[in-house]
Amino acid sequence: MIGASGQVGTELTAELRARYGTEKVIATDITPNPNLREKGPFFILDVLNRAQLYEIVTAHNVKVIYHLAAVLSASGEKKPKFAWKLNMEGLLNVLDVAKDHKLDKVFWPSSIAVFGPTTPRNNTPQDSVMDPNTVYGISKLAGERWCQWYFDNHGVDVRSLRYPGLIGYKSLPGGGTTDYAVEIFYKSLEEHKYTCFLKPDSYLPMMYMPDAIRATLELMDAPAEQVKIRSSYNLGGISFSPKEIAAEIQKHQPDFKIEYKPDFRQAIADSWPKSIDDSRAMQDWNWKNQYGLKEMVADMLTQIGKKVKPVS
Ligand code: SER
Repeated sequence: MIGASGQVGTELTAELRARYGTEKVIATDITPNPNLREKGPFFILDVLNRAQLYEIVTAHNVKVIYHLAAVLSASGEKKPKFAWKLNMEGLLNVLDVAKDHKLDKVFWPSSIAVFGPTTPRNNTPQDSVMDPNTVYGISKLAGERWCQWYFDNHGVDVRSLRYPGLIGYKSLPGGGTTDYAVEIFYKSLEEHKYTCFLKPDSYLPMMYMPDAIRATLELMDAPAEQVKIRSSYNLGGISFSPKEIAAEIQKHQPDFKIEYKPDFRQAIADSWPKSIDDSRAMQDWNWKNQYGLKEMVADMLTQIGKKVKPVS
């Protein structure tokens, strides 16, 4: 697991360790994670350090890599050259080691950020206009093409999902445009109010983390011949706006207040789809999203409520 300390990595590592045994899953990240380290093998790894990546793969006879390390959309706009370097060279290092060591499989996430302002925004099809205008989106689109290329030319069994905004309570997102949909829960429980950096009607595709983890594992479990798309699969979940999620939270917390101060992230949100057509994932490997807005909000409030205290 590369990027094991991040929002998805934390949850995916725990899930894979529960499934295959703690010792079988090597967690790596540039940031130490006491939780993962205490619970099983953990190494500090910068995916840009090619030699070290090869060393870990050889020393531990690694068969499958989940490569999650990336700079997300909002952070990427502030450090464009670094985002490009990490997101691209990191992926190429992983694809190379997979080719050279004949790994069984690679998972690498793409994103709804591969779409852009002239993409149809409602129910965005798998194959559509792709004109991303963030460095993150450009790197994910280029990454998709590299995945396809390594599959076609070197037989690397690489699998990918275009994750929507991911919402979970076990770990925090960092540097994304969809992060508001996690922050809002902490603020609602701690302060009963939240200032949102997007406008009230900004619809975006989102997904609750248990669905995203399940989608990842189901794609990785699917027989190779069922994985017909080797760039990246559209993955839809729940589509909602800040106004709608706030209204759902208010059903549980009538005194919760939201105000809106859109910043530079609004332009990014405006360039992305509002909802996603994931019928290819449904057809090819039986994908089905489970959590709706209502179930997700109720569960998030319960779970985060156990760990935060109201600030009075
Ligand atoms: N959650 C990501 C972001 O906002 C989208 O893939 O950058």
